[in-house]
Amino acid sequence: MNTNERVLVYGATGHTGRFVVDELLRRGLEPVLAGRDAERLAAGPARYAGLERRVATLADPAGLRRALSGTAAVVNCAGPFLDTALPLARAAVDAGAHYLDVTAEQPVVQALYRDLDAPARSANVAVVPAMAFYGGLADLLVTALLEGRSHAEVVDVAIGLDRWWPTAGTRVTGVRNTATRLVIRDGVLAPLESPAPFETWTFDEPLGEQAVVQLPFSEVITIDRHLEVKELRSHLNTGSLDELRDADTPAPEAVDQRGRSAQRFFVDVVARDGGDVRRASVSGRDIYAVSAPIIVEGVARLLDGRHHGSGACAPGQVFDAADVLRALQRDGAIATCYES
Ligand SMILES: NC(=O)c1ccc[n+]([C@@H]2O[C@H](COP(=O)([O-])OP(=O)(O)OC[C@H]3O[C@@H](n4cnc5c(N)ncnc54)[C@H](OP(=O)(O)O)[C@@H]3O)[C@@H](O)[C@H]2O)c1
Repeated sequence: MNTNERVLVYGATGHTGRFVVDELLRRGLEPVLAGRDAERLAAGPARYAGLERRVATLADPAGLRRALSGTAAVVNCAGPFLDTALPLARAAVDAGAHYLDVTAEQPVVQALYRDLDAPARSANVAVVPAMAFYGGLADLLVTALLEGRSHAEVVDVAIGLDRWWPTAGTRVTGVRNTATRLVIRDGVLAPLESPAPFETWTFDEPLGEQAVVQLPFSEVITIDRHLEVKELRSHLNTGSLDELRDADTPAPEAVDQRGRSAQRFFVDVVARDGGDVRRASVSGRDIYAVSAPIIVEGVARLLDGRHHGSGACAPGQVFDAADVLRALQRDGAIATCYES
């Protein structure tokens, strides 16, 4: 049990960072607001008036060390993560703090696994990238579906959004991340076919049947970290992708007291092994907002000892996936249904 519950939120000025700060407060943890710009950090909402602020740029290792002192965990919400994840995660590990982020970028997760596993083990801390809607949620669902087994022949992940109002950070990240996307084919990471395959997918109502295109995110790298999947395909409905690619689509607008938009999401995961077919379907509201309960559930478990070991890990490797999903459901963050 770690008695220091101070959690540094880097990128606290951003859309996702604010959801994370609010969720930490709601759960009785102590957020420290951090970022690169003192003025923007100072300009947070009135409810943050009493919270500590720490300014540090990622190019200043000494400043980062000072910013991290006395914190038990670092939550990185500052994307593009290609620019922020490695220096911040390295500084967290050096300071003896756990590190988590919300990256959907595959190369970021690969770099953190490659460079920080051994140092994190030596420091007895966990580095858990992609603990968010894209990446972590599918990883947790596949892990829970397999119920302790580590093998599946074919896994399909399908994400359906009724709208996608992208934030500025999402748009910049899309431009910054030009790496070839990876899938798992014949048991190894392999480039996504070009052009990416299209098909139709039937989500729960009210979304129903949708055209989807294969578009893998960070779940491919996290799943490959700890499960043996022969074929992993990730799909996104084309309607939401068209909105993301349209420069005129507005940013998300808060329509409830928690700041969530009206966006609805649906995530299906289907795992096949021989004749055994299992399916999990999850639905909820606002992909940015829901990333906060997902990552803060991870933070809480790292701080109170409900995790397995240390090192650079996938969400379903370091946490009890089924139990995390039950906690998110109990809290009203997601609705989940399993079929087999
Ligand atoms: N995996 C998922 O499901 C998921 C969910 C939510 C968000 N995300 C990702 O998270 C990232 C942030 O999204 P958002 O919606 O919060 O965007 P946002 O509202 O535009 O906020 C971006 C934040 O990142 C900070 N930042 C960006 N580059 C930085 C750098 N080089 N150094 C220091 N700080 C930097 C910004 O600081 P300033 O205020 O100083 O500019 C700001 O705090 C995006 O990459 C987004 O795609 C992923």
